[in-house]
Amino acid sequence: MGNEIYRKIEQVKLLPLYTATDLTYLDRLEDILVKNNVRFIEVTFRSDLAIEAIKKLSQSNELIVGAGTVRTQKEAKDAIENGAKFVVSPAVVPEVIEYCIEQDVPVFPGTATPGDIQRAMEYGIKVVKFFPADIYGGLKAINALSGPFYDVKFLPTGGINEENFMEYVQNDHIVAVGGSFIISESLIKKDDGETADKALKSLIDKINL
Ligand code: 3PG
Repeated sequence: MGNEIYRKIEQVKLLPLYTATDLTYLDRLEDILVKNNVRFIEVTFRSDLAIEAIKKLSQSNELIVGAGTVRTQKEAKDAIENGAKFVVSPAVVPEVIEYCIEQDVPVFPGTATPGDIQRAMEYGIKVVKFFPADIYGGLKAINALSGPFYDVKFLPTGGINEENFMEYVQNDHIVAVGGSFIISESLIKKDDGETADKALKSLIDKINL
């Protein structure tokens, strides 16, 4: 299951990060992602609506829904019980990692240093989030870290945008880039979602060029 999710994310190269403040637009969000064949979403625990959004988005089985900004075992448990199929943390959080491993749910812990990566690897984890990517040295840091950690792949997030995402996508050490730039609630609300759809399509076109 874990490997299958990594492989699918790697094919698309984009992991949209979404913070729900209004559940009205979840259907539209799902439609836009499905239409563009981006069948993933990371719903963050940065709003009170996270669990409900995970539950609703998981219902149709069109998307593989994950939980992001997971900092406690309770959040991981709530997310998984409501449909989350993967978990992303901003740091290496032992109680989150141990719980996800126990539940056989893929977990991407947040790392920024060799020490963080080493700790994640001690749990057998081979794909880590690299966060905040722009502040911790971006691609230069990922390339340097990939020397000793040649068997690890990265999911960079934080400060990645339409302008710089392609340099990350083209790097072999990267599974995919994550971020709020891929789809946002504010764009979805506009023009029946047309602007959000076009914006996502243009990112995909760049990847597939
Ligand atoms: C994360 O939690 O992965 C980051 O906060 C995403 O950063 P972004 O909003 O700059 O994409």
